[in-house]
Amino acid sequence: MDTRYKQVLKKLKKYNQENLLIFYHNLHKDQKQILLSQIENIDIELLKENYKNCLNQTIDDNAKIETLNFIYSSNIKNEEKIKYFNLGEKIIKENKYVVVTMAGGQGTRLGLAKPKGCFELELKPDKKKSLFEILCDNFKIAYEKYKVYIEWYIMTSSDNDSDTQNFFKTHNYFNYPKEKIHFFVQENMPILDLNGNMVLDKEFKIKEVSNGNGNVFYSLKKNGILNDLKKRNVEYIFFCGIDNVLLKAIDPLFIGMLSDSNYKIASKTVEKLAYEKNDWIFARKNDVISLISPKRLSKENLNKKEFKQINILEHLLKIDALEECCNMKLPYHIALKKNNYLNEEGVKVVAKTTNTYKFEQFIFDIFEHFDNMLILNVKRKDEFAPIKSFTRHYTPDNAIKLYLKVKNKNI
Ligand code: UTP
Repeated sequence: MDTRYKQVLKKLKKYNQENLLIFYHNLHKDQKQILLSQIENIDIELLKENYKNCLNQTIDDNAKIETLNFIYSSNIKNEEKIKYFNLGEKIIKENKYVVVTMAGGQGTRLGLAKPKGCFELELKPDKKKSLFEILCDNFKIAYEKYKVYIEWYIMTSSDNDSDTQNFFKTHNYFNYPKEKIHFFVQENMPILDLNGNMVLDKEFKIKEVSNGNGNVFYSLKKNGILNDLKKRNVEYIFFCGIDNVLLKAIDPLFIGMLSDSNYKIASKTVEKLAYEKNDWIFARKNDVISLISPKRLSKENLNKKEFKQINILEHLLKIDALEECCNMKLPYHIALKKNNYLNEEGVKVVAKTTNTYKFEQFIFDIFEHFDNMLILNVKRKDEFAPIKSFTRHYTPDNAIKLYLKVKNKNI
């Protein structure tokens, strides 16, 4: 038996995970190498530490919870708005603004067999548009206005990268210049079954999935994009998800407001509705900016407007802040997710309910590293219509209705 195999077996035995080699002796030579090198590269200590920390997390019932300062877009005076707009438009025209879309998620709640961004909405009987195309429309409209092709960075995962890139190719990059669209792949982390053990995806592969949208910073740096942005004198970087069909990816008002302020980062919020009782809200917790569960609020605070501002995954960073974030070590959060895997009998387990733990870094964990930030409350009907699942509220049908109310004339 070769020494490499023995070392890997020893590593696994230390954590009682040697079952991952159950099919090893029947594998082809190449497959054996793939499995061994994957295991060599997995930081099992970190995985176990995450598992222990996440499950033992206690809630600090005595935490000091305070409101943050929000700016309500509806309260901004017209002359101020014009000033911010002009500042923002200047930044766009000078090519100092780029967009990063985080599209590396698994979209487990929608349960599609393709990347979430490829999901097509039937806007009219003869008109379908994918989430990627809807987002790309923002860039094309900006080009019409500013005669600038804004660079678009798209984070994918090893699971969905080739499907995503092929989708863009077959749709001719939605007629946006393809050299302005850049794909980069985020990192993975193994998932665990409900007993805390790693599982296989194939006989020669451990099941790993993307490790959360907070990995975007590490991945931007690792892929040389941070350096590239600095070389090109980019000053403002906007981060967004893929599933809000009313997202304003290029908003001169928001850009101008951040540029006119001393803050390094900014974020948009909408006021939560009654059914969003579990959505986390912006607050200051023990003196740092955090997102907290509304369950942590007293009855008195629950009804305050300032404690109703939810995160809509739209964050704008100045380049210095981006560099700081790229050097941060963000914590991992645990989530129960549906995942298919191969069991020890070699049978594919098809998840009907949540059956595995996934570890994710969240982009919002950067906030606590900044003393303060600009937070802009925007009108939900104009800017927020996400798609998360086919049931409850954030459904494709609801998103289509909201989209058509705003964009009907332009599709
Ligand atoms: P969500 O938290 O809604 O997750 O991601 P999801 O993967 O899309 O869907 P579920 O929870 O499994 O049903 C919000 C945004 O963050 C991106 C997603 O692609 C989406 O745009 N994301 C999430 C990543 O880029 N990487 C990740 O590892 C996770």
